[in-house]
Amino acid sequence: MPVDEFGGDWTAEKLERVRKYLAAYTVIFARNKAQKLIPIYVDAFAGTGYRTKPPRLDAQTTLFEELAEPEAEAFLKGSARIALDVEPPFKQYLFIEQDAARAQELERLKQHFAERAARVKIVQEDANRYLKDWCKQTDWRICRAVMFLDPYGMQVDWSLIESIARTRAIDLWILSPSAWR
Ligand SMILES: C[S@@+](CC[C@H](N)C(=O)[O-])C[C@H]1O[C@@H](n2cnc3c(N)ncnc32)[C@H](O)[C@@H]1O
Repeated sequence: MPVDEFGGDWTAEKLERVRKYLAAYTVIFARNKAQKLIPIYVDAFAGTGYRTKPPRLDAQTTLFEELAEPEAEAFLKGSARIALDVEPPFKQYLFIEQDAARAQELERLKQHFAERAARVKIVQEDANRYLKDWCKQTDWRICRAVMFLDPYGMQVDWSLIESIARTRAIDLWILSPSAWR
């Protein structure tokens, strides 16, 4: 199965921060029964739901240490999987992934979360194009969203950021590559 190989400890750290934010976000919606807003999670560069631990490159790492690493530790949860684990759940999940094989893995992840599957939409398309329309078409009088943008490089169009800002209803997280600094 295709699994993303990317990131280091900093990726794990940032994903953990996103996880905590998502958990707090859904608790706020669940506790405030008076409001009828629909909380949506959007993962625009969703990957497969999993990522592999990057190889340790330091000279001290022996082949024995590499082989001794427990398999369970080698596969880490990616953002889509992290979002699906959050309790209480979001009302809707939108995962966008351009690559066909990765989108297929997301379908498998969706089946794994059978009780949430009806809430999950997977779109195999260019996130920029799809989301600009989605931002325009969603009824922001009744919806709110957390959107996570995690591109490999510079794939996020500035016009998408403008479309997101115009909604005034989306909490945006961008895991930016170092080239943006
Ligand atoms: C860094 S990975 C995402 C990792 C994921 N957030 C995680 O935590 O597991 C970036 C993903 O974006 C996808 N991608 C690249 N350009 C895209 C685009 N224009 N639209 C949608 N997906 C795209 C790639 O195929 C890749 O799977």
